[in-house]
Amino acid sequence: MSKPVKQIHLAAHFPGVNNTTVWSDPKSGSHIEFDSFVRFAQTAERGKFDFLFLAEGLRLREQGGQIYDLDVVGRPDTFTVLAALAAVTDRLGLTGTINSTFNEPYEVARQFASLDHLSDGRAAWNVVTSWDAFTGENFRRGGFLPENQRYERAESFLAATHTLFDSWHGDEVVADKDRGMFLSDPAAGEFAYRNDHFDISGRFNVPRSPQGRPVIFQAGDSDRGREFAAAAADAIFSRYGTLEDGQKFYADVKGRLAKYGRRHDQLLILPAATFVLGDTDDEAADLAHEVRLAQVSPATAIKFLEQLWNRELSDHDPDGPLPAVDPVVGENTIAKGRASVRMHRDPIAVANEWRAKAEAHNLTTRELIVEVTGRQNFVGSAATIAESIDHLVQSDASDGFILVPHVTPDGLDPFVDRVVPLLQERGVFRTDYEGTTLREHLGLALPELSGHGEHTAATG
Ligand SMILES: Cc1cc2nc3c(=O)[nH]c(=O)nc-3n(C[C@H](O)[C@H](O)[C@H](O)COP(=O)(O)O)c2cc1C
Repeated sequence: MSKPVKQIHLAAHFPGVNNTTVWSDPKSGSHIEFDSFVRFAQTAERGKFDFLFLAEGLRLREQGGQIYDLDVVGRPDTFTVLAALAAVTDRLGLTGTINSTFNEPYEVARQFASLDHLSDGRAAWNVVTSWDAFTGENFRRGGFLPENQRYERAESFLAATHTLFDSWHGDEVVADKDRGMFLSDPAAGEFAYRNDHFDISGRFNVPRSPQGRPVIFQAGDSDRGREFAAAAADAIFSRYGTLEDGQKFYADVKGRLAKYGRRHDQLLILPAATFVLGDTDDEAADLAHEVRLAQVSPATAIKFLEQLWNRELSDHDPDGPLPAVDPVVGENTIAKGRASVRMHRDPIAVANEWRAKAEAHNLTTRELIVEVTGRQNFVGSAATIAESIDHLVQSDASDGFILVPHVTPDGLDPFVDRVVPLLQERGVFRTDYEGTTLREHLGLALPELSGHGEHTAATG
């Protein structure tokens, strides 16, 4: 029997801290004004997308002691934006990235349960552990947690929020014409959760929301991160958007589900993906090159170079060869914040690879940086892009994609106007929403109650 055709899931990422949004393009709009979020979200909903996605950047990047001025700088608070968007959309899921390192379970559970109520069941939480001590300086905790403790805390954090969400069954608030509103169960909302990371008890004050719990996303990529996702997430936001890397990642994480008693279709793999659409494949290829050059200006090329070389290189000529000196090995002193995670484990080896590549293809420093810092996932005419997306999903390289347009907020429109109809014609993407909640869009069941207000014996 042939394999059933998979339905594709699509989401739209409103970008935050990054240098891939081409804000220098005259078509680019504000990244802070509400109108940009509204336009972006409404376009995604017009395209029948599953959800809108917000990443989280809690500190601006710095390089050489200065704010990394080629970035799109910052973004308003996630919950505030998503709650406002809930009011101007009807069906679109609303996914917020919120870290488990600097927050508290009670507060995060309240916020997501509230968002789920306000949006009638469209809330999702991308649980990240967050990277660095530099971000941590913003918070009471200071610094950050070592990697193994971050995931321990994340597991515990998530289990604690489940205890809170499940402290209400959903049938306790009763309306009676004589008695008014009353609680049928006086213990509603009572909870206790104790382990090495948390010691909390009390009463949760948001009744059970339409989805029971928000849909859970995960984004870390380490072995520990993948286990965390296999055990507890409904979807993964991954960085593996190509056929080979995608299939490898897909098989790896889906292969981890059985030991948690879970089925393949209970965890969706949704890589981030960029696209450049043209009238023809050739036109798209030319456009894609222009976009890459806009993303890696001469100044940005030098900043990237400094991140690997871990030394100041402001006098280096971006149109000349790579530096003759080697990178400084050791703690990165140049980049702080999310730029520092690009750091490579063996900078000398990477520099040598870059040199070999530059020499083989006769590339300048900037051209080399354009090559090694990524390219668009989908480049071509609408037909070519629809075909590639469908092929990747049917080949189990993913279950769909989280699209990141390079122009905000209107960069999504051409995709919705030209690619979505072709996916619909192929019968692999919905022509209208069938359900109202995000769980329904994603084909996920409502979570079962884990026990009413019971202590969860989490070990993490
Ligand atoms: C695709 C992807 C997206 C991520 N997005 C965010 C984010 O928006 N905010 C954040 O603080 N961390 C983000 N993270 C970082 C993770 O939370 C985690 O801190 C980091 O990847 C280190 O964990 P790991 O070793 O398991 O990968 C992201 C990671 C990946 C792989």
